[in-house]
Amino acid sequence: MIDVQNLSMQYGSFVALKDVSFKANPGEVLGLLGPNGAGKTTAMRILTTYLYPSAGTVKVDGIDILESPIEARRRIGYLPETVPLYPDMRVDEYLAFVGRARSLEGVKLAERLEWVKQACHLKSVWKHLLCELSKGYGQRVGLAQALIHDPKVLILDEPTSGLDPIQIMEIRALVKSLAKEKTILFSTHILQEVEALADRIVIINEGELVAQGTKAELAARVQNAGKAAQDLSLEEIFIGLLRPSLGVAA
Ligand SMILES: Nc1ncnc2c1ncn2[C@@H]1O[C@H](COP(=O)(O)OP(=O)(O)OP(=O)(O)O)[C@@H](O)[C@H]1O
Ligand SMILES: [Mg+2]
Repeated sequence: MIDVQNLSMQYGSFVALKDVSFKANPGEVLGLLGPNGAGKTTAMRILTTYLYPSAGTVKVDGIDILESPIEARRRIGYLPETVPLYPDMRVDEYLAFVGRARSLEGVKLAERLEWVKQACHLKSVWKHLLCELSKGYGQRVGLAQALIHDPKVLILDEPTSGLDPIQIMEIRALVKSLAKEKTILFSTHILQEVEALADRIVIINEGELVAQGTKAELAARVQNAGKAAQDLSLEEIFIGLLRPSLGVAA
């Protein structure tokens, strides 16, 4: 469903992504894990056609995003790192506005608005101004705008960043419920987040792919004195895999 091949991105002379390849199968939740500055947002901006890569190809649902960016965008819902919410708009007005920008109208638009209102639990703030929303509700509106056109693929850049523990649980539950029918790529630097949500994990660091696979597959690659692979925590796996690229001795 998402097929990233040899993706590279340079900002001037700075290499933000270097020859990164990964795939997400249909219906899979893929966690893109990496420290600050790893290149997660850069990769997501390329996948959602907001940035043009220096090299590489990306296919979404079989569509080459560089050849047919508009076709690709129809299939993608994107929750950016910072959601561009217009403070003076009401929640319902904003989502209707995004829906119309996505070519929805009439009964279809009304149906989709009702769907995101229910799915993202927005009923209690439906007529509120965006500037009045708590961070958690703002994030739910961000998810709602990503879902309004019922995309097959969801790309979520740190969906729970800045939320309190209750809001984190709610957003995770929402993402899990969406995972039944969508392919989801989300980024995070929080290990528990990938553990809670991801079927498979892609680890990047300083623009380079470190490893990808299920937790069990990643654990099998780590040598940890005295511990069996199945007993390793994700933290131990992450540090173990990152150690060579950090230049830290085992
Ligand atoms: N427009 C830009 N111009 C120059 N450098 C940039 C630009 N955007 C990002 N970078 C650099 O590219 C690298 C990767 O940035 P990116 O935002 O993709 O990382 P990230 O993994 O999303 O990090 P974070 O966890 O902090 O969100 C960083 O070193 C960043 O400073
Ligand atoms: Mg980022």
